[in-house]
Amino acid sequence: MELAGKRIVLGVTGGIAAYKAAELLRLLLKEGASVQVAMTEAATHFVTPVTFQALSGRPVFSDQWDSRVPNNMAHIDLSREADVLLVAPASADFLAKLAHGLADDLLSTLALARACPLLVAPAMNRQMWEHPATCRNIATLRGDGVDILGPGCGDQACGETGLGRMIEPEEILADMVAHFQPKRLAGKRVLLTAGPTFEAIDPVRGITNLSSGKMGYAIARAAREAGAQVTLVSGPVSLPCPQGVTRTAVTSALQMHAAVHHEVAASDVFIAVAAVADYRPAKPIGHKIKKGAQAAPPQIELLQNPDILAEVAALRDPPLCVGFAAESENLAEYAENKRRTKKIPLLVGNLIHDGFGGDDNTLILFDDEGQHPLPSAPKLELARQLVARIASLLEKRR
Ligand code: PMT
Repeated sequence: MELAGKRIVLGVTGGIAAYKAAELLRLLLKEGASVQVAMTEAATHFVTPVTFQALSGRPVFSDQWDSRVPNNMAHIDLSREADVLLVAPASADFLAKLAHGLADDLLSTLALARACPLLVAPAMNRQMWEHPATCRNIATLRGDGVDILGPGCGDQACGETGLGRMIEPEEILADMVAHFQPKRLAGKRVLLTAGPTFEAIDPVRGITNLSSGKMGYAIARAAREAGAQVTLVSGPVSLPCPQGVTRTAVTSALQMHAAVHHEVAASDVFIAVAAVADYRPAKPIGHKIKKGAQAAPPQIELLQNPDILAEVAALRDPPLCVGFAAESENLAEYAENKRRTKKIPLLVGNLIHDGFGGDDNTLILFDDEGQHPLPSAPKLELARQLVARIASLLEKRR
């Protein structure tokens, strides 16, 4: 119940994506939020208020003169107690109204009269989204501190393809949960490595491992949610970059090493989640090695890669360094050993069969105070717990 106790006003404006707002409402309620729906008159042409009323168990408002509000102050009362006003879908017309401070219906008046944060999930045709007027409005809204969720890219109801679709209800829910995370790392700069590295043998073959990047990307997202400015140096993975995170894509350990050193001086925290190849072929071949071209199978001479984490930890004024260790056995002994050898304050241990590839993991944190097990959970949940631990270590260092 990630939104337990949160009071949300869900504004629905006129657009075909309005039907998805019903699913969004269901998801918000399932996470424990209490939700008051307010619709524009146009929205009621796409979905009837009865749908939202039945799902939320509350009357739905669309008219600012609604006599069901005792003092006739619906435009103020509905958002007064709210923790957030979320408008999904937000049409181009509604965003224009918001940007100009217009208040000519209940929802736009609520938005102007609110004291709580405003999040909007735009939904419109791609040309409307790209129109200079919409671009100006979005820039104005961002400047006013409005959070813009999406839009997504893909097929549109009008038959066109491009940017402008409302992001999916599950994604909006994730953004809402992120919105309410404590801002423990506000003002901090976090640098991470994630994923595997790929060390070329020839143009199509190489040495790599099974890291999917999921653990590192979850931590990048959790750090961003906690208010940090996050730079993610990522080996080759097929994951989208978390919203608000700056990503530098690399392939080999040497590239990762260079990218980290480029960024590290400006970082308060360095988290090495990547499964970096310890060795690379000494002489990558420029052409594809042909089978049977030699009398014996080729011998590959290997060179040791630099230890990025150990080097960062040995800097004169290092950021708070956090390492990871994936082991197949003796986790506690090997992990603590790695922590001491690399001289880092916090090391996160996981078992290979838990850590690599899956959506869930089980972690043990090792620091000067001992061991702190984090039981099996989705990687994002563990990432948030790790971020909380890092924030408290930063606090102690001050
Ligand atoms: O990506 P996923 O599929 O979600 O999987 C996540 C994970 C299992 C890869 C991750 O949780 C993890 O455990 N990463 C560390 C893997 C490991 O065992 O690394 P290591 O023992 O080789 O290195 C120890 C630490 O030194 C790590 O923080 C590593 O990033 C760092 N290191 C290692 C070698 C090197 N040349 N440079 C480094 O910075």
